[in-house]
Amino acid sequence: MDLVRTVQEMQAAAEAARCAGRTLALVPTMGALHRGHLALVEEARRRVGPGGHVTVSIFVNPMQFGPNEDFDAYPRTLEADLERLREAGGVDAVLAPSVGEMLDERAATTVAVAGLDEHLCGAFRPGHFAGVTTIVTKLFLACRPHVAVFGTKDAQQYLILRRMARDLGFGVEVVGVETVREADGLALSSRNRYLGEKARKQAVVLSQAVFGAREAVRQGERRAATLVDSMRSAIEAAPLAELQYAEIVDTETLRPVETLRPGQEVLATVAVFFEGARLIDNAFIAVPATSEPRA
Ligand code: PAJ
Repeated sequence: MDLVRTVQEMQAAAEAARCAGRTLALVPTMGALHRGHLALVEEARRRVGPGGHVTVSIFVNPMQFGPNEDFDAYPRTLEADLERLREAGGVDAVLAPSVGEMLDERAATTVAVAGLDEHLCGAFRPGHFAGVTTIVTKLFLACRPHVAVFGTKDAQQYLILRRMARDLGFGVEVVGVETVREADGLALSSRNRYLGEKARKQAVVLSQAVFGAREAVRQGERRAATLVDSMRSAIEAAPLAELQYAEIVDTETLRPVETLRPGQEVLATVAVFFEGARLIDNAFIAVPATSEPRA
């Protein structure tokens, strides 16, 4: 496993791997790696096969943090991350560039996916998704992958990046991986470490809310307002929870829906603060093509 510190070195390694006919995969991360990230690495490995080449990037990207967000406090644990990746195996290169290497303060160019970044997290974190799409574009250009693997825990991010790759014709297949969870359902997140004991216990309401919505759809509910109400009630059951949003949106437009259509794919999505830590969770819901609820 090579530790790569510069874009130039990464491009040379990627070019050599491409010339050797290998399939390249990239797993972009901000480090503080947990089992969720490792599931992405496994999927990347599976996609490229035994002769393939897998890069994990570790870069805490200042462009995607707002002025009042946790950029400075965000955990930076490079040595432990490298150890985890060595132990897990299957990684050929780790790209861990400095901020100065990745970003040039004179740069005037950004990449943004219009429309999809306005709602949900985008409404509360102005500039966040443009920060993500710009840095992921730079990571694509540095690592030249055929496949890039992301978690659907960050569903809006995944859907925006999938759209970006399609719109710009990057020639990168954007793959989504199911959320890895704790035993009680809490989605693994680098930010879970901010939770006190009580908040940690109560944070189970996020997954209960979105899975409750999925179950209600399975039982035949098609009114988004009813689903949203039940998600809000599920979150309000936790005294420490401060709800930011609970919504049912279409996965293509990321806009709220009123009535779920047969065959439509929607997302049940929540963002909740616990003692200042912002947590999100999502469930993709495939609305059955027939209007009959399942028995
Ligand atoms: P980060 O929060 O480190 O997440 C890196 C990747 O891991 C993302 O694709 C995220 O969706 C995925 N992930 C996080 N928790 C997960 C879980 N419990 N199960 C499965 N996958 C999970 O997301 C980012 O970094 C950044 O925005 C990035 C894409 C690297 C751009 O800077």
